[in-house]
Amino acid sequence: MVRETSLVPSDLIQGMFVTDGENRREPIPSLPGMARLSVDLLVEECKRIRELGIPAIALFPMTPQERKTPDGSEAWNQDNLVCRACRALKRTVPDLGIVGDVALDPYTSHGQDGVLIDGQIVNDLTLESLKLQAVAQAAAGCDVIAPSDMMDGRIGIIRAALDAEGLSQTMILSYAAKYASGFYGPFRDAIGSSSALGKADKKTYQMDPANIVEALRETALDIAEGADMVMVKPALPYLDIIQTVKTSFGLPTIAYHVSGEYAMVKAAAERGWIDGDAAMLESITAIKRAGADAIITYAASDIARWLRG
Ligand code: PBG
Repeated sequence: MVRETSLVPSDLIQGMFVTDGENRREPIPSLPGMARLSVDLLVEECKRIRELGIPAIALFPMTPQERKTPDGSEAWNQDNLVCRACRALKRTVPDLGIVGDVALDPYTSHGQDGVLIDGQIVNDLTLESLKLQAVAQAAAGCDVIAPSDMMDGRIGIIRAALDAEGLSQTMILSYAAKYASGFYGPFRDAIGSSSALGKADKKTYQMDPANIVEALRETALDIAEGADMVMVKPALPYLDIIQTVKTSFGLPTIAYHVSGEYAMVKAAAERGWIDGDAAMLESITAIKRAGADAIITYAASDIARWLRG
């Protein structure tokens, strides 16, 4: 009766990984309970997800190694894994929203999100590639384009490119405040970029975990360039950022409960150190309490099942 925050399945976005082949389910050891699915199995799983009342998925590819290149050109191949998955999903589960990630890291042989020249990520050159990637994904059926690359100026360029291609209905969810975080490890395993990246980091384009004002500046820029929704990522270590972004701008604010946040709970639960289900539900409730309108999480379908009793 006096509870202030109610979590419902429609608050959740399921994070998912797609892989090549048919009838393939490759478990991801560092993300217990998660697997990369071939398009046919992904479609089946997505029917169940929609039936649970989850409105959307966020989709990431495990690009076959031989298709990864220094420039990441597979990102804008209209027959790449993500585009094929989108077309299949829109045929079979048309009312499940698809959030398509825009960044080059699943496609580059070096694992960075942008174009790498002489050891540096080149911002403006990268924008040209992101534009092509966004248009390819939107044309294939992505409802929401979510640039996670953190290059400056990408929201405006992508908005203009989508509009020019007649894709003005496609929304943009900008990863506005994305931190250079230690919590992305299992995700990089899932898309196969960990070994390519090695000891390199993404600190020249992702944010310093110590900064709040910079998050507000980044968010304001993305909104001015045309973002429909903004994201804070990771989530639990950044509840203050979620709250500040939501109250400062009032835009739909999405939080990404990232792979490391999910994996920590699973790993501790496997050791019997914590009650994993309770800790997961508590985590996601706390993220909503801080002000998130929706939460991307790998636990979405589990949580939707628990909420339905
Ligand atoms: C990169 C991207 C990352 C995630 C989503 N998009 C990782 C990174 O920046 O290296 C991480 C998500 C997660 O950890 O669950 N474009």
